[in-house]
Amino acid sequence: MTIILDGKALSDSLREHIRREVEGYLSEGLRPPALAVVLVGDDPASHVYVSNKQKACQKVGIKSLFYHLPQNTTTQELLELIAQLNAEETVDGILVQLPLPTQINQHEVILAIDPHKDVDGFHPENMGRLVSRMEDGFIPCTPLGIDLLLKHYQVDLKGKDVVIVGAGFIVGRPLSLLMLWREATVSLCHIHTKDITQYTRMADVLVSATGVAGLIKAHMVKEGVVVVDVGISRVGDKIVGDVDFESVKEKASAITPVPGGVGPMTVTSLILNVLKAYRRRMGKEGKNHFEPQSIANQMKKAYKD
Ligand code: GUN
Repeated sequence: MTIILDGKALSDSLREHIRREVEGYLSEGLRPPALAVVLVGDDPASHVYVSNKQKACQKVGIKSLFYHLPQNTTTQELLELIAQLNAEETVDGILVQLPLPTQINQHEVILAIDPHKDVDGFHPENMGRLVSRMEDGFIPCTPLGIDLLLKHYQVDLKGKDVVIVGAGFIVGRPLSLLMLWREATVSLCHIHTKDITQYTRMADVLVSATGVAGLIKAHMVKEGVVVVDVGISRVGDKIVGDVDFESVKEKASAITPVPGGVGPMTVTSLILNVLKAYRRRMGKEGKNHFEPQSIANQMKKAYKD
């Protein structure tokens, strides 16, 4: 029997836990946590992602401030907004939706965000913490969501072969570091990898993050593999992942669905990062509060309630 790694159910449970925590802060008379979301231009997919993130924040009591800038915004204009948001006491987290229009220098923008408000975990200071295994940094949302999902389903990673297809800045690269924390042997495949199948067939855990619909087929995986599908593509009127779900499911011991797998966990991880920033700013940081394992444990407790 193949286990479906249900990111939607885990997210619902985690978010309920978070909602209650935020409610507690409000009843103490504290201000709500706040996330500033910056969207530049009119990319339809980015609009949908940003709107989902905002709605999810609002549902758990996190205030969401939306800054929509025109497509022709300059780097300087965006840097000015970020400086304002960095200085604003009541803003806990800043998210600049990527990709940015090509005239904007993305590196400069990411560097400008206060690392303590960098809830995406993209600032080099947070990426550096990930390299150094300093657990007090912000971990990028999709890698954190995948880690929580695997932990929840007790997928053992120690000494296992984790193969990641897609070496992007948002998912593949930071996930490879996080999987090293979990003591896996990590292979990171990308567009120039000579023979991807050679890697995918040896994976105990296979993560695909390419955005190429149906890239991973049954002959590319071994029996018993755990499959994590990060891809989101629209094919006709259907949303599909990188993995040919129906055929790969037959060989997998566990697999994430699309939708309802990694997507909700990414948004939940953003909420967790905003809460982490807020707790720290408000002096509410508990012992080991932010280590993903501790969150997974809290979540299990929440299930029992
Ligand atoms: N674009 C696609 N994924 C992400 C993400 O996790 N954060 C931001 N800021 N932009 C994205």
